[in-house]
Amino acid sequence: MEAKPNVPNVLIVDDEIGPRESLRMILKANYNVFAVENGNAAIQMVQQIPMDVVTLDLKMPGLSGIDTLKELRLIDPDLMIIIITGYGTLKSAIEAIRYGVFDYIPKPFNVPEIISIIDRSVQRRKLNLKIKEVIGNFFEVSLGASPLKDGMPIQDGTAHPKWGREIPSGEQNFLKFAKVLAHTLEEKDPYTSGHSERVCYYSDFIAKRLPLSPKERAEIQIAAYLHDVGKVGISNRFMNKKGTLTPIDWAIIKQHTKKSIELLLPLNLSPSILACIQYHHERFDGTGYPDGLAGDQIPVGARIIAICDAYDSMTSDQPYRKPLSHEEAKSELLKFSGKQFDPNLVSIFLDVLKEMEEVFLVRDHLKAPSISY
Ligand SMILES: [Fe+2]
Repeated sequence: MEAKPNVPNVLIVDDEIGPRESLRMILKANYNVFAVENGNAAIQMVQQIPMDVVTLDLKMPGLSGIDTLKELRLIDPDLMIIIITGYGTLKSAIEAIRYGVFDYIPKPFNVPEIISIIDRSVQRRKLNLKIKEVIGNFFEVSLGASPLKDGMPIQDGTAHPKWGREIPSGEQNFLKFAKVLAHTLEEKDPYTSGHSERVCYYSDFIAKRLPLSPKERAEIQIAAYLHDVGKVGISNRFMNKKGTLTPIDWAIIKQHTKKSIELLLPLNLSPSILACIQYHHERFDGTGYPDGLAGDQIPVGARIIAICDAYDSMTSDQPYRKPLSHEEAKSELLKFSGKQFDPNLVSIFLDVLKEMEEVFLVRDHLKAPSISY
């Protein structure tokens, strides 16, 4: 077929002619649509023509959907892959998601849903590439002087009004960069706008009440800004979903911590920053993800971010509910203290909030939009 320039390329991979052709008909008005009937043909096609999005049927004769997905990931790690799930493919769908999936389309198709999923995946692909570019540019500029890699020299410190003590300038530079990256991720989404900045702000109020060095505090701030950067690779509808999440929804949500680490890998961040990002969804009682760590097995920065992330999400507007009041959010933190959250850190955070409330309204002080994920 003749591909139109500046139009996203979508590849449909399905052994059944019915769904393959109906998808083609649905999508052809807005995309360059290619279609193949098996995994090997899909791999060949992606090697020849750069694709933006692939819809992949998991149940195909010959090379399986999962093996096809693995190969496609090797060719283009930023490819947006949407799996087609039919009856009996739940187990393979969950397995496939481990290799990176943006969304899924259940069979039989719902046309408006498909159009919306493909459209979102194209937008997210652009954002994903933009974030990679920002990371690449920073990496190039700071190459050879990456200040946060263990064992590398920390440059001389400079005064910082908020910290009241000196923090290493390397961390300051990185903090600025982390802020840019978080804003790049959040700028187009009214429900996440300002979230990372507020999580960073609250986290530092807890961190400065602990016996941590300026470097450790800076690392927690950087992790707070970047904790959800991996969400760029998955559809927003899961994070914002109302009601019960299916096992597939959960598998997709859980990808974002791994995706964050993959995205940030070129930056040579210190292992402690990466650990805070990787483990911010662990729970104090060991029932969280990705590794089911418990208590102080979870890095302290990750335990701090978990509390601030939850508090900010609860007190922010969501697509499916109005924000909780500060009192309600504080009761929730107490309710899950010792289960989801570190009880000592909850108690410190509640003290912090009390002090802040005595002086000003918490959110007003931040001058951030009053909506967030
Ligand atoms: Fe997260």
